[in-house]
Amino acid sequence: MGCFSWSKDLTKRSTDKKKYKALDQNYHHLHTTFDELEVSPVRIDKRQDTGNVDQSVVTKELDSSGRANDDGKKKGKSKSFNLDELLDATDNFNMENLLGEGGFGKVFKGKLKETGELLAIKQLNSDGSQGIREFVVEMMTLSLVDHPNLVKLVGYCVEAGQKLLVYEYMSLGSLEGHLHGPNRKRLDWNIRMKIAAGAARGLEYLHDKMNPPIIYRDLKCSNLLLGEDYHPKLSDFGLAKVGPTGNNTHVSTRVMGTYGYCAPEYAMTGQLTFKSDIYSFGVFLLEIITGRRAIDNRKSAKEQNLVAWARPLLKNRENICHMVDPALQGQYPAKSLYKAFATALLCVQEQPSKRPRVSDVVKALDHIVSQPYTPQSHPSRTTPEILVVI
Ligand SMILES: Nc1ncnc2c1ncn2[C@@H]1O[C@H](COP(=O)(O)OP(=O)(O)OP(=O)(O)O)[C@@H](O)[C@H]1O
Ligand SMILES: [Mg+2]
Repeated sequence: MGCFSWSKDLTKRSTDKKKYKALDQNYHHLHTTFDELEVSPVRIDKRQDTGNVDQSVVTKELDSSGRANDDGKKKGKSKSFNLDELLDATDNFNMENLLGEGGFGKVFKGKLKETGELLAIKQLNSDGSQGIREFVVEMMTLSLVDHPNLVKLVGYCVEAGQKLLVYEYMSLGSLEGHLHGPNRKRLDWNIRMKIAAGAARGLEYLHDKMNPPIIYRDLKCSNLLLGEDYHPKLSDFGLAKVGPTGNNTHVSTRVMGTYGYCAPEYAMTGQLTFKSDIYSFGVFLLEIITGRRAIDNRKSAKEQNLVAWARPLLKNRENICHMVDPALQGQYPAKSLYKAFATALLCVQEQPSKRPRVSDVVKALDHIVSQPYTPQSHPSRTTPEILVVI
């Protein structure tokens, strides 16, 4: 994986130190903005939220974190695009360039006329305040983070009633498409584990390397984008939240996220912790291993919720080889399969305190990645060997 090491690369570390000092200052501002954008805590779904945010907040935040100054120099890393540039790049948002559509709006592929750079351009589809809130939070979070496993924000555009976010183009699309779409056979075991390990590293950066740390809140297969060679990056930071500070153990907030990925205690109480992200990661890992969706209403009642289906089955070692994605056609190292299942199971434990920290998840997945599947070293098995799960 193409991640830098925080402990070994001392030169990079000192550069990072400077960068983080700057980030600390920005973060004070970000924290205030997050607070400003929060409305009273009511249980609510991501797509139904209609909290009140003054539109001027958007302009204010864009001005302070990314827009070019009068002297032409940018304060932040993201660039302010003219609408014309993006209309040119997408051929007037031609539907032939549509990459997909989510809760925020449509996503178009674009190519900058000047440089030929490929982009993904997200178009906010309504004036709903939740969209505006997500727009600002996404833009600010992505302006501050910098990691090989987090998608890069190239810029934004607020013009003529349009609100657009411009990202680096991820040529292989979302993991969701690969796992549940027609190309699923192409994701072999080694690629799946590389993706899981990369996602864990991106999450580790948010939890353990950012100061103050960030809770992602939206980990799921459609938010894991793939670049060349299946390089994984987390995307969509509109729900990100600054983690608890001081002696606080949680952040109280509205319940947001995606059904099936949301930690049960967070869904019930609105108390958000880093362990809420770990739960979502467990669901995500189960999806990668089994090829099943987090929620699948086409299945029988017992099999609709992935975690509810997997938990009891994983107690019996005999079940393991029947739970793995049949698309893998038995081509995986048995021990690693068990370890991957065990890791996922630990992550989705009911009690948050029993879930591992993200650094432990990274270690477990790195170990699995270090033992890749090769047909020679792993001949076909008839009986699973060992299983040590919780
Ligand atoms: N940077 C990108 N590069 C390439 N494709 C992208 C990029 N960003 C998004 N997409 C595509 O657009 C689709 C829609 O993305 P979007 O994040 O708007 O919605 P979603 O993740 O499917 O749902 P949600 O709104 O719940 O996050 C993605 O599934 C992906 O296929
Ligand atoms: Mg998304």
